[in-house]
Amino acid sequence: MRDVSLETFIKKYYRSHFRLKKFEPGVTPVPVSGKVFDDRELLFGTQAVLDGWWTEGEFAEKFEKDFSMVVGARYVSLVNSGSSANLIAFSALTSTVFGERALKPGDEVITVATGFPTTVNPIIQNRCIPVFIDNDIATKNATIDGIKKALSKKTKAIMLAHTLGNPLPLDEILALVKEKRLWFIEDCCDALGSTYKGKHVGTFGDIATFSFYPAHQITMGEGGAVVAQKPLLHKAIRQFRDWGRDCWCDTGKDDTCHRRFKWQLGDLPMGYDHKYIYSQIGYNVKLTDMQVAIGLAQLGKLPGFIKKRKSNFGKLYTGLLKYSRFLTFSTAENGSDPCWFGFAIVVNKNAPFFKLDLVQYLESKKIGTRSLFAGNLLKHPAYKGRTDIRLSGALTNSDVLMENGFWIGVYPGISEEMIRYILRTFDMFMKQW
Ligand SMILES: Cc1ncc(COP(=O)(O)O)c(C=O)c1O
Repeated sequence: MRDVSLETFIKKYYRSHFRLKKFEPGVTPVPVSGKVFDDRELLFGTQAVLDGWWTEGEFAEKFEKDFSMVVGARYVSLVNSGSSANLIAFSALTSTVFGERALKPGDEVITVATGFPTTVNPIIQNRCIPVFIDNDIATKNATIDGIKKALSKKTKAIMLAHTLGNPLPLDEILALVKEKRLWFIEDCCDALGSTYKGKHVGTFGDIATFSFYPAHQITMGEGGAVVAQKPLLHKAIRQFRDWGRDCWCDTGKDDTCHRRFKWQLGDLPMGYDHKYIYSQIGYNVKLTDMQVAIGLAQLGKLPGFIKKRKSNFGKLYTGLLKYSRFLTFSTAENGSDPCWFGFAIVVNKNAPFFKLDLVQYLESKKIGTRSLFAGNLLKHPAYKGRTDIRLSGALTNSDVLMENGFWIGVYPGISEEMIRYILRTFDMFMKQW
């Protein structure tokens, strides 16, 4: 039931606490990312508190349905972060229900060196071997040649992110995956809204993952999703997400299988409650209905967010193209329409300045910058000297991206005025050289 007084109070609260301040060039920060929301997020979040349910409930049910429609994925499981989504996606493939295709310790999984650590960590956490390949400078993605060269008799899966929202070369990857009977996990954490040949990313892999941290296309504060098209994969995902239990009932529901007290599994007594039978070494990475409620309000804004990210990217690209003798910008993968996560810039070798000069200049003018996540992951203490990883070929481009690459924001909170200011600031910087 609608509570008009609550709605009125929240509208007023929103206006008094979160009203946008006038943009002052050089004074107001232009961050790389941020939350864009209105009173609806506050209202839904409050309603989720007031209904007293708190664990996954009505909001989660609605979000899963709507998200599945938006992306075109049949099954959606919500988790508490994109990192958890990757962990659950990978772990699900270790389920023995997949027979000889189940991932086992020692199996190799192809991934890239330049990306986010938690795309790779689940491989190591499950005692499989990540095989690192180089990224392409222009697309920032893995290339099909790199993937093919990394194949070995032990290769069982490919786990890759659509870097900064740029879809991978999916036709080629899918052909290879089919030919070699490999699993393909699509990390779409930065790519919600990106499409490839008209289809949303997240519908190409066996399993795909999303993040709803504030930097991403929509947010719940913290949150993520694992999506799949096949029921067996969905069941394994739910089992690993929900403590490892065999039962796949939604939170708060019982007897989805209609055999709750009729199972006889392992050495358990006949009819032992299915809700308390464990068939996996699982986790609990579910989220709360308060988070999902905020996400549901955000999901309604997704079409506008996608439009704005694309438009901001386009304006930066057009405005900065004149500097392409010194700077390399991202190019969309063939056949794709990215919903960009950020605007990446690589400072060319021939430039009369270093990346650090440009980055520090932008930061001094209040324009936020970020590294391309970890750069070359293998240079980080956590990965250095490990014997449970393999390298395929040189990581020349990963080093270039680490040393000379960075990105600036395109998120929907970046206004026309801010874009004009960013472009003016680049002009001022370039005049010095
Ligand atoms: C490609 C990629 N995968 C996974 C993650 C992890 O998501 P989360 O921060 O929600 O754990 C991120 C985070 O930004 C990411 O960029």
